[in-house]
Amino acid sequence: MANSDNLSGIKKREYVLGRDYLASVRLSLQHIQETGYHVHPSIPLRAGMEIMEVATGTGIWMLDLASKYPDINFHGTDYSLEQAPPREFLPSKVTLSKWDLLEGGVPEEYVGRFDLVHVRLLVCVIKNNDPLPILEKLVKILEPGGFLQLGEMDLVTNRFEHARPDLASSSFELAFNFPSTLDQRLGPIWVSDLSTQFGLAGLSSVVDQHDFRKKSHLSFYTDAAFLAWNEWREGMDESDKERYGSILGQARKDREEAKRGLALNMEIRTGVGRKEGGLSTM
Ligand SMILES: C[S@@+](CC[C@H](N)C(=O)[O-])C[C@H]1O[C@@H](n2cnc3c(N)ncnc32)[C@H](O)[C@@H]1O
Repeated sequence: MANSDNLSGIKKREYVLGRDYLASVRLSLQHIQETGYHVHPSIPLRAGMEIMEVATGTGIWMLDLASKYPDINFHGTDYSLEQAPPREFLPSKVTLSKWDLLEGGVPEEYVGRFDLVHVRLLVCVIKNNDPLPILEKLVKILEPGGFLQLGEMDLVTNRFEHARPDLASSSFELAFNFPSTLDQRLGPIWVSDLSTQFGLAGLSSVVDQHDFRKKSHLSFYTDAAFLAWNEWREGMDESDKERYGSILGQARKDREEAKRGLALNMEIRTGVGRKEGGLSTM
């Protein structure tokens, strides 16, 4: 994907997050969602089914499932496989290939093929607050009656939790809000409107679930947020980078003084949609 020269800072980056070992550790931490499932219970699983995970990243969702369901076929795609394990380490029913969701169409071999398509944490990838072009591609690769499961952090529902009433979170709020003033991918509003987006893409909405994270887990997610903020900072112009560096420094200091009693919370949203056609049960 070509970068556009008239953009500056993070906007110039095709991918706003990092890909090094810390970025991969962050994805593992973010994987510990409190949803209690990998696949929503409304989606039936059976031996021999075909599951595709797009934008698989490290592949952790798929690999966790593959160890529980050795008779299911998993296909992971991403436009970069840098964070995924080498093929030699993959179970026999797991394959990986490259697919750029923002460029070109749908590879012929994927069309109408999958019983379940999973996609998660695309918020920083979707442009112009419009997930529809990507959703339409995902619907295309589903077989009739197949399911799409989409999991997202709903960044615009953010709120700050304080262990004690005397703790102030203004530095945290700035750390959270500053990047979205530079790049709209970091302040997505489409997530809250997921079931409408599913309808537009031709899916019937089966589940639209959204819950704030449990207080007990907020410290882990706040650690992960600091990692993501540092990754976003890497892509900023020098002046923004410097300003954001001091904002993050203050937020870190405030959190340490609060003995980790300041935390970021937001809703985790899971949407399940079904493509028309096929049998009523799989
Ligand atoms: C935040 S990570 C989420 C990874 C994984 N889905 C998870 O939940 O652990 C976003 C992923 O989107 C991928 N990605 C970014 N732009 C993409 C594009 N244009 N096409 C396909 N994948 C893309 C990145 O390479 C990265 O692996």
